[in-house]
Amino acid sequence: MAGLIPQDFIDDLIARADIVEVVGRRTQLKKAGREFKACCPFHDEKTPSFTVSPGKGFYHCFGCGAHGTAVGFLMEYEHMSFVEAIESLASSMGVEVPRNESDQPAQRYDELFSLMDTVARHWQSSLKESPEAVEYLKNRGIDGSTAKRFGIGYAPDGWSNVLDKFGKSDEATERLLATGLIIRKDNGKHYDRFRDRLMFPIRDTRGRTIGFGGRVMGDGEPKYLNSPETVLFHKGRELYGMYEARQALRHIDRLVVVEGYMDAVALARNGIDFAVATLGTATTGEHLNRLFRITENAYFAFDGDRAGKKAAWRALENALPQIREGRQIRFVFLPDGHDPDSFVNENGAATFVKLMDAGLPLSEFLIQELSSQVDMDSIDGRAKLAEMARPLVSKIPNGVYRELLIESLANTVGLTAAKLEKMMAAGQSGSDHGRHGGPRPLPKRRQPSASGGPSVVRRAITLILNYPESGQNLDTGKLAGVQRAGVELLAAIIETVQSEPNITTAGLLERWRHHDEGRHLGKLAAAAVPMDDDFDASAELQECMQQLAIAGRKERIEFLIEKQRVTGLNDDEKSELQQLLKAA
Ligand code: UTP
Ligand code: MN
Repeated sequence: MAGLIPQDFIDDLIARADIVEVVGRRTQLKKAGREFKACCPFHDEKTPSFTVSPGKGFYHCFGCGAHGTAVGFLMEYEHMSFVEAIESLASSMGVEVPRNESDQPAQRYDELFSLMDTVARHWQSSLKESPEAVEYLKNRGIDGSTAKRFGIGYAPDGWSNVLDKFGKSDEATERLLATGLIIRKDNGKHYDRFRDRLMFPIRDTRGRTIGFGGRVMGDGEPKYLNSPETVLFHKGRELYGMYEARQALRHIDRLVVVEGYMDAVALARNGIDFAVATLGTATTGEHLNRLFRITENAYFAFDGDRAGKKAAWRALENALPQIREGRQIRFVFLPDGHDPDSFVNENGAATFVKLMDAGLPLSEFLIQELSSQVDMDSIDGRAKLAEMARPLVSKIPNGVYRELLIESLANTVGLTAAKLEKMMAAGQSGSDHGRHGGPRPLPKRRQPSASGGPSVVRRAITLILNYPESGQNLDTGKLAGVQRAGVELLAAIIETVQSEPNITTAGLLERWRHHDEGRHLGKLAAAAVPMDDDFDASAELQECMQQLAIAGRKERIEFLIEKQRVTGLNDDEKSELQQLLKAA
């Protein structure tokens, strides 16, 4: 809901925020040259590797990899939401947060939340009038008080129950559409999305209903129908049952992530109040972020079959960047044929908790999985294991955990940790991902690689993030047609610094906070770049752009020549090729 606060206000606030003051009020900072240093507040350490750069408006820990802006610091350290962090920052600077009045989105959101709540309550009362639905829940072991706690309801059969009751005006119909409760047909008419289904409201952390999952009671398809993505509901971010868990428990010291609505509900019914469910998606980094705001101890419970193993592996991959000292992640596999719902109903809560306690720590699951894919008796097999582990290990932030994992891996393959690290480093493709703690300054005048490969894009983004003013005179037209990972992002950043000439490093990072690329941007902003006054970032950037343009042209030529060979060229393409060849 960041959109409620005007973007230019956020940009301005971040440009003016004093990160040294924000961090310094919570951690003791010491001046060190142009920067400030401290022992990292996000992990245990004796020698300071936490750096705050007032120039960039940015902090970074070389020990654990934590990094971000003043806003990010408040979110991490004070567990604030984005909007709360903006509000706190504004109030400490004595300014008031304006709201976009023009389209009154704040009021609109309120209306959408209240509509969802009304419909949820309506369906709850319909449940009591449907003996079949009550019977269905009973058969699945759900009692009345659990159903009430989760707000479970029933949407009766029919194409326009919700539409007729809650869509009496055009505006009301628009709200139903915006919340995904009805669907618009090609002819402009509408109908109810949820018909003859048991309804599970999905609530945000404040208990407001943001979406629904609806289960058929027979064999219909799909088994679960979910709300679509709406302004209120983002599936890849929500954890079903989080609100209910926080209501039930004063202190949450662990959370178990399951796959289904019914798993979370059945566990709660059996007294395990700390279960949350992903909504039919893989466990994402964002899920984990939410999880680790609440507790340091995360368990993932998966079915014992192959699909469960696969889902567990994806969760592991997404969890690696989130590993920190103090956080514990365990993987729990249920006996074949069981999900948490069936298991807890058959074996009881105590047995389920026992199974959780016996869950595999992340490192063990990782090593076990990799070992099972190679022949551990052969040298080749063990080398292969090291090779497979390399990209995984590189996702883990520097720190004790990573060292320990490397040590266990070394034990497994029968090498010393130092040797293994060397071996893994040798295979690494000279990238910006630091293997060792401590800043590694980029060489002062390195020629961008002739291929114009991804490292040039990365370098250009690093430079422009660190020196936003150096992007003023760049021509994004040069990037047209360049096929490289990250080129679109580079172009977007250039356009942003050109339209917002005063934007800072921190401002750019906040602009991309809500995008997947945001995480990578933070890493790039933290890369050490020469800070001396004679360093010419803009010349360096021009050079990167030139390299990319050349690479793009070369590729286009190759493409056209290949096309000529296979299908022939049309007249436009022929003259384009001639032009390109002349220029080359
Ligand atoms: P499962 O198919 O494992 O169902 O889907 P379940 O949770 O065991 O459900 P019950 O016990 O048969 O009632 C796991 C989760 O995947 C999503 C839902 O979030 C579900 O809880 N899912 C599944 C869908 O979104 N749509 C579907 O059609 C099926
Ligand atoms: Mn199930």
